[in-house]
Amino acid sequence: MTASDADARAAALFGRAFARAPEVHAFANGRVNLIGDHIDYAGGTVLPMAIAARTHVAASCAERDEAVSEWNEDLAWRRYAFGVLAELRALGLPIPRLSIAVASDVPVGAGLSSSAALEVAVARAALAAAGAELNPRELAIVCQRAEHLHAGVPCGIMDQWCVAHADAREAIALECDVLCARAIALPAELRIEIVDSGVRHALRDGGYAARRADVEEAGRLLGVTHLARLPRARWPEIDALPVRIARRARHVVTEQARVEAAIDALQRGDLARFGALLAESHASLRDDFDVSMRELDQLVEDALARGALGARMTGGGFGGCVVVAWQ
Ligand code: GLA
Repeated sequence: MTASDADARAAALFGRAFARAPEVHAFANGRVNLIGDHIDYAGGTVLPMAIAARTHVAASCAERDEAVSEWNEDLAWRRYAFGVLAELRALGLPIPRLSIAVASDVPVGAGLSSSAALEVAVARAALAAAGAELNPRELAIVCQRAEHLHAGVPCGIMDQWCVAHADAREAIALECDVLCARAIALPAELRIEIVDSGVRHALRDGGYAARRADVEEAGRLLGVTHLARLPRARWPEIDALPVRIARRARHVVTEQARVEAAIDALQRGDLARFGALLAESHASLRDDFDVSMRELDQLVEDALARGALGARMTGGGFGGCVVVAWQ
């Protein structure tokens, strides 16, 4: 399905639900994280990039906020949409009441940032309706706040940042401790494939918050704000932590090292090394961080057996997609 399909579907849905034509349209792309999972909230560096699939929003001023989508009702997606409106208004922006219709080609719960795409698309539509503007950094931060406060997911900044700055040609190396980003061009011979396991997660289910709590506990015990930045000389201290907390911390510090090595490998055009780092990242998410699943492990093994450079689960885990690197 193409992005323009979702645009037309959002407009048609709007017409059916609200019996008039929408005044504004907006969209946001999904994202895939190449490497660096579960370290954004530990102040680490992540390497996501935009994907072609988009979420489209059609909207018009209304007497009260109302929203329809192609999704079924039990996804609680309205909390994300109305949460964004509430947080934009809390900034003092003159956001009118809105009727909103959403159509999306970003699969929900697949680790491709359907939530951030929804948030950013709704925010862009609301800003357009208000004649107001936010820069991509402000947009990312207000959408992350909406997810924390209204959807109850204590996410990091990676998804909203990547979606608000979307560029499907380059990856973004984002240092989440200082919110400093630079573009990383991908070697022309590298091909990135996304394979969907079909298993769906909801980050609200609690596994995500539990992992984040473990990482924060590790940071507290080690006396650091950004666990991902723990100097290598202090890594042996991790062994003295309670077993589960130590495993989480080990993932975080080694994943940060892998991201740095992966950026270096991409810049040197060393695709074999890049691929090996993806495979190591998957093993760490599976064995130390406990966020993979049998279906994801199988897809990674299959890809490697078919001759891929590397493969790993991507995003929050507990289902979703694997990202595969090919030459
Ligand atoms: C979800 C969150 C992100 C990040 C990833 C895991 O996508 O929204 O902030 O923590 O999981 O890397």
